[in-house]
Amino acid sequence: MRTVFLNGDYLPAEQAQVSVLDRGFLLGDGVYEVIPVYNGLPFRLKEHLQRLQRSLNGVRMANPYDEAGWSVIISKLVKQNGDGDQAVYLQVTRGVAPRDHVFPEGVEPTAFVMTNPIKPLPEWYKQDGIKAITVNDIRWSQCDIKAITLLPNSLLRQQAQDAGAQEALLLRDGYMTEGSASNSYAVIDGVIFTAPKDEKVLPGITRDLVLELAQAAGMTYREEAVTAEQLRNAEEIWISSSTRELLPVTTLDGQAVGTGRPGPLWQQLDARYQRYKQEGEV
Ligand code: PDD
Repeated sequence: MRTVFLNGDYLPAEQAQVSVLDRGFLLGDGVYEVIPVYNGLPFRLKEHLQRLQRSLNGVRMANPYDEAGWSVIISKLVKQNGDGDQAVYLQVTRGVAPRDHVFPEGVEPTAFVMTNPIKPLPEWYKQDGIKAITVNDIRWSQCDIKAITLLPNSLLRQQAQDAGAQEALLLRDGYMTEGSASNSYAVIDGVIFTAPKDEKVLPGITRDLVLELAQAAGMTYREEAVTAEQLRNAEEIWISSSTRELLPVTTLDGQAVGTGRPGPLWQQLDARYQRYKQEGEV
């Protein structure tokens, strides 16, 4: 049985209980992180914890632990769950209080951490590339905050699933922002384009790494959003996230992207990504 962390205790998942008055449950009032763990070691932990702090600041919530505190909790939990490759899910909500839109006073936040085994992705995702559809970005205007309120993301991802696709690429005012659960990229004339880090996208930890790796490989990138039309004419399209790493999109809305096969820039970057995972060097 997997062990989870809840408000200071390590206990079997089945025994962990949160009040029905928790504001996470009633109002979606909380933020989260997903941190990959390889060989028992959290990947880019400092960056994830810094983003957690940023999200907490964005929703005016106190951080129940400092970076050292979170690191200890995560290490203990990963060990208790057998090391190896895992995905840590960490969530902080504003806590338990009578339902009211206004923030309660003097309430402790609820801190919850669980780990799940990282499921290997189907091999064809990388061999053939995945399918994506374009949809309207129906989310709010503070997508840089990693809020647990994921109903729009979930609706859009399900729309992709229903269309036989693995991701939905989101268009806002005619420009691609990101995926429903990933950052997104388009290669145009050999240049990598990804939306800038503003309030329309999540500042992805994998995105930062992909751009570092691209730079180290001597590739050119621009933090500029592309239009739907540019996207349709792109040579390559990719998505990235902590759980799916960097994946090539080879079919967009039923049409082949570029040659319809995973492209050469993706291949180079994926190789560098895998090397970085092993050796920790860009
Ligand atoms: N989501 N954009 C959105 C909307 C996301 O939900 C995610 C990741 C990303 C990529 O961020 P990162 O590289 O830091 O994982 C971008 C996680 C994995 C999730 O919700 O499960």
